[in-house]
Amino acid sequence: MAETRRWYFARRPQHEIEADTLQLRTETLPALAEGQMLLRTLYLSLDATLRLWLSEWDLYIDPVKLGDPMKGFVVAEVVDSRNPNFAVGSLVTGLGLWSDYVVTDGSGYSPMPRLPGLPIGEAFGVLAIAGPTAYIGLHEIGRIKPGDTVMITAAAGAVGMITGQLARIHGCRTIGVAGGAEKCRWLKQELGYDEVIDYKRGNLVEQIRAVAPDGIDVLFENVGGEILDAGLTCMKNFGTVVVCGLISSYNDGEQRTPGPTMFRNVIMRRLRIEGFVVLDYIDRYPDYQQKLAAWMLEGRLKYRLHVVDGLENALESLKLLYSSGNNGKLMVRVAGDA
Ligand SMILES: NC(=O)c1ccc[n+]([C@@H]2O[C@H](COP(=O)([O-])OP(=O)(O)OC[C@H]3O[C@@H](n4cnc5c(N)ncnc54)[C@H](OP(=O)(O)O)[C@@H]3O)[C@@H](O)[C@H]2O)c1
Repeated sequence: MAETRRWYFARRPQHEIEADTLQLRTETLPALAEGQMLLRTLYLSLDATLRLWLSEWDLYIDPVKLGDPMKGFVVAEVVDSRNPNFAVGSLVTGLGLWSDYVVTDGSGYSPMPRLPGLPIGEAFGVLAIAGPTAYIGLHEIGRIKPGDTVMITAAAGAVGMITGQLARIHGCRTIGVAGGAEKCRWLKQELGYDEVIDYKRGNLVEQIRAVAPDGIDVLFENVGGEILDAGLTCMKNFGTVVVCGLISSYNDGEQRTPGPTMFRNVIMRRLRIEGFVVLDYIDRYPDYQQKLAAWMLEGRLKYRLHVVDGLENALESLKLLYSSGNNGKLMVRVAGDA
């Protein structure tokens, strides 16, 4: 009988994720029934939203229930199959489990083509979540136009690193907000951000005004809190705030997070504020992914993957997202590019 390791939701965190939030157990896999397949997980995507799936917030998706296996986005290889829709050796991606192996009928997974010239980890890291999120946020929600000044927060993270480059490809002027000199240097020198701001250094409103004296057309917000407030303070008339994420509040638990103190600028500056969830656009993924993959292959879209080895390190690694400890797209290599 084959065995697998699998993470389970063991104890709800009040604030930060803790060592006993999830528990890694070893269990026996069932034999394949007709219509099922056996998946070997290659990579787990560690996404900021996973902290919310462990909360009691009213979410956009079913949370993980206490006692259930931990779920997340994965890329996996079909290693055995009694399902005619999934051939042995092919790749699938989707909402899977934090597990070495999974027996499934394929619900929630879709085939992932192998892209010549792009290793599986890179294709998964950029094309599964971060790239489509950046594209949708800028184009569908932000409706960016060439010449717009676009400010992106958490700019050196998975979504942010792609967002700034897509905005530049569209002819926008980009301002990236990130924590620390190294991340800011990388954004400016390697990714081509026009301006960068280290939010850990001094007054943020003053720093924004110094690089965008006429204001911001589109704010792509990933953080919330004081950073969102500073952005709202510096918006142009009729600007747009794309609410992609509010990571600074994800560890707040049941405590109520205060709203932005500069919310009045929605009126004063006549702003449009709109949130979105990438999963609502899944039908249009092939379109976005084709564009993004072409830019990756042409070298126009650069990226940094932060890959941690070993399923056993998944829980500890997830914490990096909420403490600025990740450098680029955070993922766990479970079995790697088989
Ligand atoms: N709407 C959607 O469908 C969708 C889809 C994917 C992601 N998202 C959102 O996009 C954002 C980024 O997610 P990601 O998975 O790509 O993670 P990420 O940006 O790779 O990592 C998170 C980054 O956020 C910054 N951060 C964390 N806590 C912070 C705080 N208290 N104050 C300031 N900055 C903080 C850190 O960057 P620094 O080092 O610069 O501090 C950290 O590296 C999240 O808000 C997430 O929820 C939304």
